[in-house]
Amino acid sequence: MELLQGLETRYSSPKLTEPGPDATQMQHLLKAAIRAPDHGLLRPWRFITVTGEDRNKLGEVFVQARQRNQPDCNEIQLERCRQIPMRAPTLMIVVANPKPHPKVPEAEQIQSTAAAAYGILMAAYAQQLGAIWRTGWVVHDSHVRSSLGISLSEQIIAIIYLGTPLGQAIARPHLDAASLMTNWP
Ligand SMILES: Cc1cc2nc3c(=O)[nH]c(=O)nc-3n(C[C@H](O)[C@H](O)[C@H](O)COP(=O)(O)O)c2cc1C
Repeated sequence: MELLQGLETRYSSPKLTEPGPDATQMQHLLKAAIRAPDHGLLRPWRFITVTGEDRNKLGEVFVQARQRNQPDCNEIQLERCRQIPMRAPTLMIVVANPKPHPKVPEAEQIQSTAAAAYGILMAAYAQQLGAIWRTGWVVHDSHVRSSLGISLSEQIIAIIYLGTPLGQAIARPHLDAASLMTNWP
Protein backbone atom coordinates (compact mmCIF):
# COMPACT_ATOMS: atom_id res chain seq x y z
CA MET A 1 0.00 0.00 0.00
CA GLU A 2 1.25 3.45 -0.89
CA LEU A 3 2.02 5.50 2.20
CA LEU A 4 -0.15 8.46 1.19
CA GLN A 5 -3.03 6.26 0.18
CA GLY A 6 -2.87 4.55 3.55
CA LEU A 7 -2.72 7.80 5.48
CA GLU A 8 -5.71 9.15 3.59
CA THR A 9 -7.91 6.07 3.91
CA ARG A 10 -7.13 4.37 7.27
CA TYR A 11 -10.10 3.26 9.29
CA SER A 12 -10.68 1.35 12.50
CA SER A 13 -12.05 -2.17 12.66
CA PRO A 14 -14.23 -2.60 15.76
CA LYS A 15 -14.94 -6.28 15.02
CA LEU A 16 -11.89 -8.49 14.95
CA THR A 17 -11.24 -12.19 14.77
CA GLU A 18 -8.42 -14.73 14.40
CA PRO A 19 -5.75 -14.73 13.22
CA GLY A 20 -3.95 -11.95 15.04
CA PRO A 21 -0.71 -10.47 13.81
CA ASP A 22 2.14 -12.95 13.36
CA ALA A 23 5.64 -12.34 14.68
CA THR A 24 6.79 -10.50 11.55
CA GLN A 25 3.71 -8.30 11.51
CA MET A 26 4.22 -7.52 15.20
CA GLN A 27 7.77 -6.44 14.46
CA HIS A 28 6.48 -4.01 11.84
CA LEU A 29 3.92 -2.63 14.29
CA LEU A 30 6.63 -1.98 16.84
CA LYS A 31 9.05 -0.49 14.34
CA ALA A 32 6.36 1.90 13.14
CA ALA A 33 5.52 2.84 16.74
CA ILE A 34 9.07 3.78 17.63
CA ARG A 35 9.36 6.13 14.66
CA ALA A 36 7.05 8.47 16.53
CA PRO A 37 8.36 12.03 16.80
CA ASP A 38 10.29 12.04 20.06
CA HIS A 39 11.55 15.36 21.43
CA GLY A 40 14.91 14.77 23.12
CA LEU A 41 14.89 11.12 22.03
CA LEU A 42 13.57 10.16 25.44
CA ARG A 43 11.69 7.10 24.20
CA PRO A 44 8.80 7.91 26.48
CA TRP A 45 6.78 4.85 25.51
CA ARG A 46 6.60 1.15 26.09
CA PHE A 47 4.30 -1.57 24.82
CA ILE A 48 2.69 -4.58 26.48
CA THR A 49 1.11 -7.33 24.40
CA VAL A 50 -1.59 -9.68 25.61
CA THR A 51 -2.53 -12.66 23.45
CA GLY A 52 -4.15 -16.08 23.57
CA GLU A 53 -5.00 -17.48 26.99
CA ASP A 54 -3.44 -14.50 28.72
CA ARG A 55 -6.44 -12.46 27.59
CA ASN A 56 -8.52 -14.52 30.04
CA LYS A 57 -6.19 -13.46 32.87
CA LEU A 58 -6.62 -9.85 31.85
CA GLY A 59 -10.38 -10.38 31.74
CA GLU A 60 -10.25 -11.60 35.35
CA VAL A 61 -8.29 -8.50 36.31
CA PHE A 62 -11.04 -6.36 34.76
CA VAL A 63 -13.64 -8.37 36.71
CA GLN A 64 -11.75 -7.83 39.98
CA ALA A 65 -11.44 -4.13 39.23
CA ARG A 66 -15.17 -3.80 38.59
CA GLN A 67 -15.98 -5.71 41.79
CA ARG A 68 -13.74 -3.38 43.78
CA ASN A 69 -15.37 -0.29 42.26
CA GLN A 70 -18.92 -1.56 42.34
CA PRO A 71 -19.36 -4.41 44.84
CA ASP A 72 -23.07 -4.80 43.97
CA CYS A 73 -22.57 -5.28 40.24
CA ASN A 74 -24.33 -8.24 38.69
CA GLU A 75 -23.00 -11.28 36.82
CA ILE A 76 -23.97 -9.82 33.42
CA GLN A 77 -21.84 -6.75 34.09
CA LEU A 78 -18.96 -8.91 35.30
CA GLU A 79 -19.18 -11.12 32.23
CA ARG A 80 -19.00 -8.01 30.06
CA CYS A 81 -15.74 -7.07 31.83
CA ARG A 82 -14.41 -10.62 31.43
CA GLN A 83 -15.02 -10.44 27.68
CA ILE A 84 -13.33 -7.08 27.05
CA PRO A 85 -9.93 -8.57 26.13
CA MET A 86 -11.60 -11.21 23.94
CA ARG A 87 -12.62 -8.61 21.39
CA ALA A 88 -9.46 -9.34 19.42
CA PRO A 89 -6.74 -11.99 19.20
CA THR A 90 -4.02 -9.53 20.20
CA LEU A 91 -4.00 -6.48 22.44
CA MET A 92 -1.20 -3.97 22.41
CA ILE A 93 -1.21 -1.72 25.45
CA VAL A 94 0.59 1.53 24.71
CA VAL A 95 2.10 3.08 27.82
CA ALA A 96 3.53 6.58 28.21
CA ASN A 97 6.61 6.40 30.34
CA PRO A 98 7.58 10.07 30.70
CA LYS A 99 11.04 10.96 31.93
CA PRO A 100 11.88 14.08 33.90
CA HIS A 101 13.55 16.50 31.48
CA PRO A 102 14.36 20.21 31.73
CA LYS A 103 13.13 21.00 28.20
CA VAL A 104 10.63 18.30 27.31
CA PRO A 105 7.47 18.56 29.37
CA GLU A 106 5.50 15.49 30.27
CA ALA A 107 2.67 16.57 27.95
CA GLU A 108 4.97 16.35 24.94
CA GLN A 109 6.05 12.87 25.94
CA ILE A 110 2.44 11.79 26.19
CA GLN A 111 1.77 13.29 22.78
CA SER A 112 4.73 11.31 21.44
CA THR A 113 3.16 8.17 22.86
CA ALA A 114 -0.12 8.95 21.12
CA ALA A 115 1.87 9.32 17.91
CA ALA A 116 3.40 5.89 18.58
CA ALA A 117 -0.10 4.46 18.97
CA TYR A 118 -1.08 5.99 15.66
CA GLY A 119 2.02 4.42 14.09
CA ILE A 120 0.74 1.04 15.23
CA LEU A 121 -2.67 1.72 13.70
CA MET A 122 -1.10 2.76 10.42
CA ALA A 123 1.29 -0.20 10.29
CA ALA A 124 -1.64 -2.52 11.01
CA TYR A 125 -3.61 -0.99 8.16
CA ALA A 126 -0.64 -1.26 5.83
CA GLN A 127 -0.48 -4.99 6.58
CA GLN A 128 -4.23 -5.53 6.05
CA LEU A 129 -4.70 -6.13 9.76
CA GLY A 130 -7.71 -4.72 11.53
CA ALA A 131 -7.09 -2.45 14.49
CA ILE A 132 -8.91 -0.13 16.84
CA TRP A 133 -7.67 2.20 19.57
CA ARG A 134 -9.76 1.93 22.70
CA THR A 135 -9.44 3.26 26.23
CA GLY A 136 -12.34 3.39 28.71
CA TRP A 137 -12.37 3.08 32.48
CA VAL A 138 -9.92 0.18 32.53
CA VAL A 139 -6.98 2.38 31.53
CA HIS A 140 -7.44 4.59 34.61
CA ASP A 141 -8.28 1.90 37.13
CA SER A 142 -5.67 1.43 39.89
CA HIS A 143 -6.12 -2.36 40.16
CA VAL A 144 -5.77 -2.78 36.39
CA ARG A 145 -2.77 -0.47 36.35
CA SER A 146 -0.95 -2.28 39.14
CA SER A 147 -1.77 -5.71 37.71
CA LEU A 148 -0.20 -4.63 34.41
CA GLY A 149 2.84 -3.20 36.19
CA ILE A 150 2.09 0.41 35.29
CA SER A 151 4.03 2.70 37.62
CA LEU A 152 2.59 5.84 39.18
CA SER A 153 4.43 8.06 36.69
CA GLU A 154 3.09 6.14 33.69
CA GLN A 155 -0.17 6.37 31.76
CA ILE A 156 -1.96 3.89 29.54
CA ILE A 157 -2.59 5.86 26.36
CA ALA A 158 -4.22 3.15 24.28
CA ILE A 159 -5.30 -0.42 24.19
CA ILE A 160 -5.00 -1.31 20.53
CA TYR A 161 -7.05 -4.33 19.53
CA LEU A 162 -5.53 -6.17 16.59
CA GLY A 163 -6.70 -8.99 14.38
CA THR A 164 -8.46 -9.86 11.18
CA PRO A 165 -11.30 -7.47 10.36
CA LEU A 166 -14.81 -8.92 10.45
CA GLY A 167 -17.54 -7.31 8.40
CA GLN A 168 -17.62 -3.99 6.66
CA ALA A 169 -15.81 -0.90 7.83
CA ILE A 170 -18.06 1.78 9.31
CA ALA A 171 -18.37 4.52 6.70
CA ARG A 172 -17.02 7.83 7.89
CA PRO A 173 -19.02 10.93 7.05
CA HIS A 174 -17.30 12.98 4.39
CA LEU A 175 -15.13 15.69 5.86
CA ASP A 176 -13.96 18.60 3.79
CA ALA A 177 -10.31 18.78 4.85
CA ALA A 178 -9.85 22.21 3.30
CA SER A 179 -12.57 23.64 5.56
CA LEU A 180 -10.37 22.89 8.59
CA MET A 181 -7.50 25.01 7.37
CA THR A 182 -7.16 28.77 7.34
CA ASN A 183 -4.38 31.01 6.16
CA TRP A 184 -2.88 33.48 8.57
CA PRO A 185 -2.90 36.48 8.76
C1 LIG B 1 -7.59 8.53 22.73
C2 LIG B 1 -8.67 7.72 22.04
C3 LIG B 1 -9.46 6.88 22.79
C4 LIG B 1 -10.47 6.14 22.19
N1 LIG B 1 -11.22 5.28 22.96
C5 LIG B 1 -12.20 4.55 22.37
C6 LIG B 1 -12.95 3.62 23.14
O1 LIG B 1 -12.73 3.42 24.32
N2 LIG B 1 -13.93 2.93 22.50
C7 LIG B 1 -14.19 3.12 21.17
O2 LIG B 1 -15.10 2.48 20.65
N3 LIG B 1 -13.47 3.98 20.42
C8 LIG B 1 -12.49 4.69 20.98
N4 LIG B 1 -11.75 5.56 20.23
C9 LIG B 1 -12.16 5.82 18.82
C10 LIG B 1 -11.75 4.71 17.87
O3 LIG B 1 -10.39 4.37 18.02
C11 LIG B 1 -11.97 5.13 16.38
O4 LIG B 1 -11.10 6.18 16.03
C12 LIG B 1 -13.38 5.57 16.13
O5 LIG B 1 -14.24 4.47 16.31
C13 LIG B 1 -13.56 6.12 14.69
O6 LIG B 1 -13.19 5.15 13.75
P1 LIG B 1 -12.14 5.51 12.62
O7 LIG B 1 -10.78 5.50 13.26
O8 LIG B 1 -12.33 4.47 11.56
O9 LIG B 1 -12.54 6.86 12.12
C14 LIG B 1 -10.70 6.27 20.80
C15 LIG B 1 -9.86 7.09 20.04
C16 LIG B 1 -8.85 7.81 20.65
C17 LIG B 1 -7.95 8.69 19.80
